[in-house]
Amino acid sequence: MNMHEEKDALYRCIEEGAKEIKRLSAQKGEPFTFCVVTFGCQMNARDSEKLKGVLLSMGCVETESEDADICVYNTCTVRENANNKVYGRLGLLKKYKEKNPLMKIALCGCMMQEEEVVRTLKESYPFVDLIFGTHNLYRFPALLLPVLRDDEKVTELWDKAEGSVEDLPIRRTYSFKSGVNIMFGCNNFCSYCIVPYVRGRERSREPEEILTEIKALAKDGVKEIMLLGQNVNSYGRGVKSACTFPELLSEAAKVEGIERVRFMTSHPKDLSDELIEAMANSPKVCRHLHLPLQSGSDRLLELMNRHYTKAQYLSLVERLRERIPDIALTTDLIVGFPGETEEDFSETLDVVKRVVFDNAFTFQYSPRRKTPAEKLPGRLSEEVMRDRFDRLLALVKEGAAAQAKKKEGQTEEVLVESINRQDETLLTGRLSNNTLVHFKGEPALIGQVVSVRLDKSMGFYYLGEMV
Ligand code: SAH
Ligand code: SF4
Ligand code: F3S
Repeated sequence: MNMHEEKDALYRCIEEGAKEIKRLSAQKGEPFTFCVVTFGCQMNARDSEKLKGVLLSMGCVETESEDADICVYNTCTVRENANNKVYGRLGLLKKYKEKNPLMKIALCGCMMQEEEVVRTLKESYPFVDLIFGTHNLYRFPALLLPVLRDDEKVTELWDKAEGSVEDLPIRRTYSFKSGVNIMFGCNNFCSYCIVPYVRGRERSREPEEILTEIKALAKDGVKEIMLLGQNVNSYGRGVKSACTFPELLSEAAKVEGIERVRFMTSHPKDLSDELIEAMANSPKVCRHLHLPLQSGSDRLLELMNRHYTKAQYLSLVERLRERIPDIALTTDLIVGFPGETEEDFSETLDVVKRVVFDNAFTFQYSPRRKTPAEKLPGRLSEEVMRDRFDRLLALVKEGAAAQAKKKEGQTEEVLVESINRQDETLLTGRLSNNTLVHFKGEPALIGQVVSVRLDKSMGFYYLGEMV
């Protein structure tokens, strides 16, 4: 089957699925509901929007509660605690299913790409109806159909990507902002990381296809896009019409109606001066760069297979801040990589002190199956890891607060995202540099860009007033 035929076949499955949903709703006497729960990163969040699009097209009704008629877990396996969360919550789903015999449980995402996980699921969680992975996610309509129609148990897993249909229905979480996949997979094989094994080899989408998608999103009311890939700086390998990431970024920013462009994630080893120029030259490109450092120790960076040194990272930060003074820098940090000494760790603290990040995600090292680091000696004790983690986090918080303080009193453009969860009289919006601000305003402003004075910095967010 070519991709055109495959797409037609999938749309037929959606039509057939809609008939089944109708039948099930009649049986239940109420609309058939679904809930998609996302674990993990932005790529998974985007994939979940695809799953929701399919379920809505079949006539299912979305609900927040996992006690739904169809519950889908889109899983992450980057650290062991991500897996544990899924196993824990499956226990809860089992109880729901005992009360609701029509209920279907589906699992997909990165965790399913691990054979051991699927084996455990088969042995200990036989009530799961549907299991699929990352490479065949687009086949969701075809996989779900026999589950709905014949109450079949379905498992389909591919060990590599073999083409994909990208233009299936999508339900965006926000009407005014959207992720856009520009590439899939990863070839970097950082020694601690499982992503290359569960997401497969790096593949870039054709630039024309990406720009067509962005134009369609803009027509549909999207103002902010986030270009997504595990290492966007290596975008363009293998595409037919030569295009680098800085070129793609500049083209994306030119699309009429798009007011903001973000991207995730940048690997420091491939960050070019062209990218810094492209960012500096387009006011639509957000003043934020997420630049994972992982460790400040050259010895560990080498063992991690990161291909840069502490000095190179620091000089990159210097160039970025020189050319784009108001840029916010955020990062990812791992503590407790095998064999990490107090001296290695103090190098990480040193970079954090020198750079002063606007925010950082800090993680305790988690051994992952098949990765080279899993076999390294020198695992750290829980106590040492915890102690370093706490010290690092304290330093990160201090830096973030100092950075946020600098903007106090300034007025900034804010894209209004939602009503504040704690206080309904407040709106929550995001600055170009990705920081959140809460301020009084009407819900009708959601999706608009407004000016807000940043009255008080609260560390990782602001309290402000519209002006
Ligand atoms: N592609 C992105 C990272 C994706 S994973 C990049 O390279 O920047 C997000 C973060 O999870 C990583 O940056 C890393 O800090 C963390 N991480 C990945 N594997 C990990 C592991 N085995 N243990 C702890 N943290 C890990
Ligand atoms: Fe993992 Fe490294 Fe790829 Fe990021 S670049 S996804 S950390 S292997
Ligand atoms: Fe997790 Fe997969 Fe993303 S492992 S971090 S959801 S690519």
